[in-house]
Amino acid sequence: MTFKIALIGCGGMGRRHAHGYIELRKYFDTVEMAAVCDVHHDVAGTVAAEIGEATGSTPDIYTDFDEMLGDADLDGIAIVTSTPMHHRFAIKAMEAGLHVITEKPMGLTLKACRQMREVAKKTGMVLAVAENYRRDPMNRLTRALIEAGAIGTPYFALDIGVGSSDGAVMHSTVWRAKKEQAGGAPLDAGVHNADMLIYLLGGVDSVFAEIAINESQRTLRPMNEVAPVLAEMYNHRREDGYDTGDIVEQTAVDTAFAVIRFKSGAIGQLIMTDTSHGQSLGVSTVSGSSGTMYRPRSRSGESPRIVRGDGTEIMGDALLDLVPGFELDDTLSTLWNGARHISSYDMDFRDIDSKILAYEYLDMVQAAESGRQPEVGPQEGMDALALAYALMESGVSKTPVTVEDVAEGRVSEFQDEVDAEMGI
Ligand SMILES: NC(=O)c1ccc[n+]([C@@H]2O[C@H](COP(=O)([O-])OP(=O)(O)OC[C@H]3O[C@@H](n4cnc5c(N)ncnc54)[C@H](O)[C@@H]3O)[C@@H](O)[C@H]2O)c1
Repeated sequence: MTFKIALIGCGGMGRRHAHGYIELRKYFDTVEMAAVCDVHHDVAGTVAAEIGEATGSTPDIYTDFDEMLGDADLDGIAIVTSTPMHHRFAIKAMEAGLHVITEKPMGLTLKACRQMREVAKKTGMVLAVAENYRRDPMNRLTRALIEAGAIGTPYFALDIGVGSSDGAVMHSTVWRAKKEQAGGAPLDAGVHNADMLIYLLGGVDSVFAEIAINESQRTLRPMNEVAPVLAEMYNHRREDGYDTGDIVEQTAVDTAFAVIRFKSGAIGQLIMTDTSHGQSLGVSTVSGSSGTMYRPRSRSGESPRIVRGDGTEIMGDALLDLVPGFELDDTLSTLWNGARHISSYDMDFRDIDSKILAYEYLDMVQAAESGRQPEVGPQEGMDALALAYALMESGVSKTPVTVEDVAEGRVSEFQDEVDAEMGI
């Protein structure tokens, strides 16, 4: 049976989803992109044409989600709109009997996520989150190594993402500057870091953080200046009401420094900012009782590296000796050209990105067909977002918060304004 899916939101990430689908079709014919939808007809049209050219079958184009839902013959939808629409479209789709994969973050706030979780439970539809970093084979290997005790008992993790936007709007997308649209580097990007920390070290108990908006006046600059590697995916999108060079008010938090206590007892430090002029610092390490794991950048294809107390370094294929049972699952292996037991790979960013997206679609479809949960479902999606929002909640309350209280709505001061703005 072919699983018919529609793509909602054909901006930068939507186009990357289209590339993921095109990649998927090289190996599998079990999924068909039957429709694409964006409020901008030409934006959806660019994506539809690209799919048609690559696969020989052009999806139908819609500009209205409700019309598409009533009209198209679908089994599921992929939501890649800006974040405020995730919960609305997911809930409508599940209530109409469709399975859902939504981009990260799962929803706008934890309240939005709880509503999505409830409808997924009530309807029995799959609700998957397209959280991509953990699907990178090198992150799979890193986790296998930590689980196998390759660095002993994990004591602490450092996850430091200090970069400089040089006063530009993040990714040249105005919604990313806005608090009520779940923007800002610590939240929009930080949810990836949150998911990876949980993926590698397990659940989080509590967080204490300080937050700031350092740069409240930003300039809308072209994507090829801001994020060149992504520019070709974003050159068709539209930014209503703004022109290049405009000043945009940043209301989203752009800086967060947090100390995290994991349920295991390990400690973490998560720092996210894009306001560091003249300094770029990326540290992703996990230190344990017998060594430190240096995590490669996600989607770089580089090998993880372990350094022992005596300075010995283990990397590349020598790591595989520590995890003889580690291998990519059948789907990931097929997409990765048959590779199974690998310690690095060499591919263009676009190929890697597309393969991971293809994997996410196949995981969602397999979950729908078998009745199992997707790898990143409501629980995992909420865990990551609750950790990212815990930084915001602790930042405004000036006290430590538990992630569970944030997830279940007992702590929500920061998000209340966002929920009110969105009418939920
Ligand atoms: N997993 C990742 O690595 C990753 C990377 C980038 C973005 N994302 C996520 O993907 C989502 C989209 O981000 P983006 O960078 O593509 O933003 P974007 O602004 O480029 O694209 C969003 C698109 O949604 C469309 N849209 C908005 N409202 C709509 C509606 N009511 N109906 C139909 N279409 C509508 C817009 O016209 C736009 O084309 C966000 O939730 C973001 O967090 C994830």
